Amino acid sequence: MRRRELISKRITGYVNWKRNRMRSHQPEILAKLVDHLATTPHDHLAVTGDLINLGLESEVENARTWLSSLGPPEDVTLTCGNHDSYVPGILSRAFAIWAPWLTDDSGKTATRSRDFPFVRRRSGVSIIVCNSARASMPFMATGYFRSNQAKALRAILKEEGAAGNCRVILIHHPPSSKATAWHKRLVGALLFRRVIAAEGAELILHGHTHLASITAIPGKTLAVPVIGVPSAAQAPGGKRPAARYNLFSIVRQQEKWEITMDEYGYGQSSAEVEHLARHRLA
Ligand SMILES: [Fe+2]
Repeated sequence: MRRRELISKRITGYVNWKRNRMRSHQPEILAKLVDHLATTPHDHLAVTGDLINLGLESEVENARTWLSSLGPPEDVTLTCGNHDSYVPGILSRAFAIWAPWLTDDSGKTATRSRDFPFVRRRSGVSIIVCNSARASMPFMATGYFRSNQAKALRAILKEEGAAGNCRVILIHHPPSSKATAWHKRLVGALLFRRVIAAEGAELILHGHTHLASITAIPGKTLAVPVIGVPSAAQAPGGKRPAARYNLFSIVRQQEKWEITMDEYGYGQSSAEVEHLARHRLA
């Protein structure tokens, strides 16, 4: 991407932010949601990306402070989004500054796209972090999943599955077919789905759409739930669902994993965070 395009992307992003996000995404909404989350017992937190907006270094630093507020980095796992790679160069800065949340159990940090996926294992759950973030042209919000990640993901799923672990994949862009507009799609989604069909997984979590969605894609034996969540800062009353987080209960029952999801967030006109719904996923 040339410098002119880079500047042009920041300008279009700034206009978009002034028109839409600045009004609909509010820090106090996010703060109240995180306060509620802190009072809800949980073992681990998965953050599915787009922590920043325009790809400014100051935003990356602020996001680091926010990540630190969520709990010890070993209890918080991150995957990055298209806004975290808004212009060339910023993603590698983000990887460096957000390193504690991008480090596997052996202490190895994902500092480049080729370091993904990485795995964190917690009490029989394998959290597998893919990366779809890569700088794109102005007006585009695409994500990318290429053959190198596919090959590595396949090997990880095979190994973690053989160990009997519950395989939870994080990826910012939704891998389901037609989940977004064309300019926001995951390039390589078909490849991703082929890997899941070949090796299976127990749960896939994504961001990007700002919608509360429960879909599924074919796995090796069973369908794999694919979960999207609204933005954590979305104010009630907007076009998109208000801020929400999902709490997953993952329990081993004999030969299978039982997964339940509780949705917590603001109702469309509510000023308070409340329990919204419960879903049995598996
Ligand atoms: Fe996104």
